[in-house]
Amino acid sequence: MTLLTVALLVTLAGTARAAPGKEVKGIDISGIDVTDHLEKLSESRYPKEENQANRDSVRDYIADRMQYYGLHVEQQKFNTTVNKDEKGITSEQIQVEGTNVIGIQRAVTKSPGGVIVVGADYDSNGVSDPMFRNGAGLAALLEVARLYTVNEAWSGRYAANYTTVFVAFDINTKLHQASPGQPGGHFFIREWLWPFIDHNVTFFGGAVILDSIMNVNYNDNSQTLSNEFQNLFPEMQTRVEEGGNKGDFLAMVSMGNKDDTVKLRDQFSGNYNKARKAERFRLEDMQLRNGMAFDTIVQQFVKSENIHFWTFKDENEKTVLLPAILLTDTATFRTDPASTCASVPCRPKDLLTEDRIEFVDKTVEATVHFLFSRQATLLPEQPSAASSLQSSFLTVAMVCLARLYM
Ligand SMILES: *[C@@H]1O[C@H](CO)[C@@H](O)[C@H](O)[C@H]1NC(C)=O
Ligand SMILES: *[C@@H]1O[C@H](CO)[C@@H](O)[C@H](O)[C@H]1NC(C)=O
Ligand SMILES: *[C@@H]1O[C@H](CO)[C@@H](O)[C@H](O)[C@H]1NC(C)=O
Repeated sequence: MTLLTVALLVTLAGTARAAPGKEVKGIDISGIDVTDHLEKLSESRYPKEENQANRDSVRDYIADRMQYYGLHVEQQKFNTTVNKDEKGITSEQIQVEGTNVIGIQRAVTKSPGGVIVVGADYDSNGVSDPMFRNGAGLAALLEVARLYTVNEAWSGRYAANYTTVFVAFDINTKLHQASPGQPGGHFFIREWLWPFIDHNVTFFGGAVILDSIMNVNYNDNSQTLSNEFQNLFPEMQTRVEEGGNKGDFLAMVSMGNKDDTVKLRDQFSGNYNKARKAERFRLEDMQLRNGMAFDTIVQQFVKSENIHFWTFKDENEKTVLLPAILLTDTATFRTDPASTCASVPCRPKDLLTEDRIEFVDKTVEATVHFLFSRQATLLPEQPSAASSLQSSFLTVAMVCLARLYM
């Protein structure tokens, strides 16, 4: 190899390293604490009379926290129809009112790809454990909102360039056994987000949906895959099988290959995989396409709020694909967390194992880094108050010295 080629290769390698966007420096994420939120999320939040007091108190808790973090909070009410019986055995239907709680960190909104949404359901579906679905997603959402605002608005080291919206969705009817009404995410996109981005997809950067993100399991055969899996995700099937069919990954599910979707998932996975410690879990990139076999695992993915972004119809009934990624532990495709519990019935503190907390914390960390790399800019180092005081003392001293010698 000639010297010239070597030099060229070195230069190219240098460029490649420098390329991946802004560095995320100076963010303090050492104090992630999801357990504090999770302890308040162990009771049912299915929309029925006897859960109303708990539903109200969780809604108020979310709004209080968001306000405290410095977000502008709005509550979006909507009416929908649910099955009165959460097990879906009887079919009496009732109309209920739901409330999406929205926290806005406002900066520039009308810029290409400007607005990012981070969202999670805060109700529970009457079947899954309320801490797993979707207490964990909500706890992560609140921690992401807290760490983003603490490091951005309060530290003074970052400036938010673009608007970020944190939303806790109420009443995901798609996850109920048999509720006919539209879920909170549908109303959020149609009636809140679309007007907020001026009816123009250009201003939307994408959504990150956190749905069922705590159930990591390192036991062999704790993960099942669907019948069509081999055809849909062959490489992933091989990885999971060779690893002993463990439930040791977080799935990042996206739809299609439009530029904004590709950018969204590359930025998220880049931030997830950056600064990897010796973690036992990993991120699996699961890309859906239109016309894919309608498999049982795909059927599950489209019950989460991401589906309303992927299938949004504007006022002219034209479909507009709003980019969104779903983060999920694959929920029912992984061993039920309650079955691994030491006590019967399972106590909340037995469910919050170190492994599970660590798994959620990683998602929080990656999402915070993702937001900083995309929505904010690190400001140049400012001289601190103490050092500028020192330098003014020095100036005074110099002036005095100068006087003495004149
Ligand atoms: C929901 O329905 C109730 C009763 O019909 C009504 O009072 C309320 O205004 C409705 N809420 C919304 C947001 O439409
Ligand atoms: C982001 O905001 C900072 C501080 O206001 C500004 O200096 C910087 O130019 C902005 N960056 C972009 C890409 O708008
Ligand atoms: C969306 O906004 C962009 C940038 O301002 C503009 O060029 C475009 O025409 C808008 N699209 C629609 C449908 O209004």
